[in-house]
Amino acid sequence: MPEIIRVDEISKYDGQEVTIQGWVYNRTDKGKLVFLLVRDGTGFVQCVAFKGDLDEKLFDQVMRLPQESAVVITGPVRADKRAPGVPGGYEIGVKKIKIVQTADADYPMSLKDHGVDFALDNRHLWIRMPSQWAILRVRSTVMAATREWLDNNGFIAMDTPILTPAAAEGTTTLFETEYFDEGKAYLAQTGQLYNEANIFAFGKVYCFGPTFRAEKSKTRRHLTEFWMLEPEMAFCDLDGLMEIEEQMVTHIVQRVLRDRKPELLSLGRDLSKLENIKAPFPRISYDDAAKMINELREKETDPEKKELLKFDWGIDFGAPHETAITQQFDKPVFCYGYPTAVKAFYMEPWPNRPEVCKSVDLLAPEGYGEICGGSERISDHDLLLKRIREQKLPEEAFKWYLELRKYGSVPHSGFGMGVERVTSWICGIEHVREAIPFPRTIKRVYP
Ligand code: 4AD
Ligand code: MG
Repeated sequence: MPEIIRVDEISKYDGQEVTIQGWVYNRTDKGKLVFLLVRDGTGFVQCVAFKGDLDEKLFDQVMRLPQESAVVITGPVRADKRAPGVPGGYEIGVKKIKIVQTADADYPMSLKDHGVDFALDNRHLWIRMPSQWAILRVRSTVMAATREWLDNNGFIAMDTPILTPAAAEGTTTLFETEYFDEGKAYLAQTGQLYNEANIFAFGKVYCFGPTFRAEKSKTRRHLTEFWMLEPEMAFCDLDGLMEIEEQMVTHIVQRVLRDRKPELLSLGRDLSKLENIKAPFPRISYDDAAKMINELREKETDPEKKELLKFDWGIDFGAPHETAITQQFDKPVFCYGYPTAVKAFYMEPWPNRPEVCKSVDLLAPEGYGEICGGSERISDHDLLLKRIREQKLPEEAFKWYLELRKYGSVPHSGFGMGVERVTSWICGIEHVREAIPFPRTIKRVYP
């Protein structure tokens, strides 16, 4: 029995007899030939069955195989530039075929175009389609590359709790649950506060897990459950933070380019836009970004777009503002020094300018906008207490967090990176809901 191979490694087997295990994605017949496009989870490959090679009854079954039937195929690998597939360029001659299951003929996600709602209702099947499959393969590599960079740069992985006693990123986006006799608990909006405890034991740490926001926003950038990577570093200021972010994001993009080129090409992604993503990234202040937006609005001739670019110093950037900024650069751009009023309570104020804080967002190019948000944290106990009181946060729940400022407090910084936002940008897709296996939005918890 020839070796069972993975389709993504098929180029290593040119001229050899191999076995693949997979599912029929598409079938076309040309007289004595049947072309099966078979997917095995790692790729899509054309398998050609010739009538003379198989027994008559079996060939007849192959000719009528419905989409999604499970098969095991053995035969020789041949290089052929015209052969479709991912990576493509190879086909397998069908010498043997075992039909493991003949799929029902009424497959809902057939090869015609489907509306988005229908596709989302059938997400359990939609993930088999080439585009969705490619995006989720890229996502997996984004996550692996992220961990790889952190693990190789002295960071310790620390899992932070999902059930938490208080809000950290604003009280309006909390998912609440009853917690036995302890009152209410909330699904974590961030692991950051716990990582701030972790750095005093480990120096540089990260957590990487699901994050929950009861976001009322129905934008293409928001999920109610998403995956966030959060590094946190002791003895690190805002500049140090930006250096770490740009090194890590460069590594992620370059590794996806190395390992997921066939997937990106199958999505029609312009690779030259990604090849250019190398540190250092440009840095602009909120003040300068505000000027830039106002200038762009002056120049804008479309009245509708002009209206969307309306902007007064002090407000947070909306998606149209971020889009306008990122279109001025061909790399991700750091925007730092946002107004204190629009950011979270824990951010260190700018020296002699308390209306501005040491925050930084990393905005991805081509209009994608914020992929990372972070800051230097308040390291002074009394100032932090003042901020907690100003924001009317429950002081009792933050007792431990305040205590961190009493025993060895140092300047420290961290950021959060949204996995689905990064994946969407790298893949060049419209909506973050396609960048997670089973998306959760305000209108969807099924399937
Ligand atoms: O900017 P955010 O809210 O920052 C924090 O939560 C900090 N505590 C992180 C930290 O400093 N440790 O979120 C960070 C990132 C955003 O830049 C975005 O990429 C992603 O998380 N994100 C979302 N992704 C999808 N859906 C949502 N609703 C998201 N909210 C944030
Ligand atoms: Mg943010």
